[in-house]
Amino acid sequence: MLVKKIAVLFSGSGTNLENILKKLHLKEFNGFKIEVVTAICNNPDAGGIIRSRNFGIEPIIINHKDFPSREDFDKELVVSIKKCKADLTVLAGFMRFLTPVFIQNIKAINLHPSLLPLFKGGHAIEESFKSSMKVGGITVHHVSEELDGGAIIAQRCFQKDSSMNLDDYEKKIHQLEYELFPNVIVDVLSK
Ligand code: GAR
Repeated sequence: MLVKKIAVLFSGSGTNLENILKKLHLKEFNGFKIEVVTAICNNPDAGGIIRSRNFGIEPIIINHKDFPSREDFDKELVVSIKKCKADLTVLAGFMRFLTPVFIQNIKAINLHPSLLPLFKGGHAIEESFKSSMKVGGITVHHVSEELDGGAIIAQRCFQKDSSMNLDDYEKKIHQLEYELFPNVIVDVLSK
């Protein structure tokens, strides 16, 4: 059977990585099998490292602090991703700004916890929670040279409830992420 290979990049707790491993790794879809061929992390203290190991995948740690420039770090990412011949790279909470060295060499999609183009950057959940908007949501988009600015593939939103605190809001965001992201990965690999 045809195997489609994905590389997953993460920086933190790795719950989306875990969800991808649970729902997609070595599973069959539309006549192909998905394999997570590598998990790459830039943060040696990330909680996601143990989650990855629990699925038998030893993550590659590429600490951005070990590189003199963003470009040098990205070169190393590109080498690792190319080595495992990933068809698609999935950014699941990967909190690094990527340079053209990466963008021009790697086909990647990113998960972002807001309704882009609103609330770009690393504080999207808190900023969107505090905003006057009546809905919150998430976006999956192609990775481009503009931070959180690539073409949108899919979005989901929910009604904000005045009784929600930041914790409830964040939980709702993650719940939507766990539903949407694996489905989008399958769709993108099916094309
Ligand atoms: C997710 O909410 C994801 O949308 C966000 O980081 C979190 C990672 O959680 N990504 C960004 O903010 C990208 N700008 P996880 O490590 O538990 O999967």
